[in-house]
Amino acid sequence: MSNKMHIKLNVNGKDEEFLAEPRELLIYTLRERLNITGPHIGCETSHCGACTVTIDGKSVKSCTMFAAQADGKEITTIEGIGGPDDLHPLQAAFKEHHGLQCGYCTPGMITRATKLLEENPNPTEEEIRFGMAGNICRCTGYQNIIKSIQAAAAEMSAAKEAAE
Ligand code: FES
Ligand code: FES
Repeated sequence: MSNKMHIKLNVNGKDEEFLAEPRELLIYTLRERLNITGPHIGCETSHCGACTVTIDGKSVKSCTMFAAQADGKEITTIEGIGGPDDLHPLQAAFKEHHGLQCGYCTPGMITRATKLLEENPNPTEEEIRFGMAGNICRCTGYQNIIKSIQAAAAEMSAAKEAAE
């Protein structure tokens, strides 16, 4: 008898339904089953943050969760944040301020940063460093990542004020 589980997810606004082994990690569901390859696999041990997604409003490292644990939940990946023709202010700021080099950490960084700025729209440098501490970058030395997040925060605050 199959021990596969019936799982339903909503990923980037789209409902997905499938049968999966209880041991299937969410990062593999996203990348291999659903072909959503923005979240990357860096360590698979919850250290690097390359696999970060948002699940029901919280930042989660998708290598630390089974697909079955995400049953019924709403997931947002970098693909749901913005695309080439409609960059999110964070994506635009990372591009403008050289917040990436190889780009491997970037989907996870930006996905985490969207939550950080939702929780704290005007963070200090220290708050950004603390809030991003679960995401590792091997290339940039972090300074331009901080600058990018600060620039996006300023841009988003200005846009919000203008809209009020
Ligand atoms: S791949 Fe998930 S934290 Fe590194
Ligand atoms: S840009 Fe290469 S790991 Fe961050």
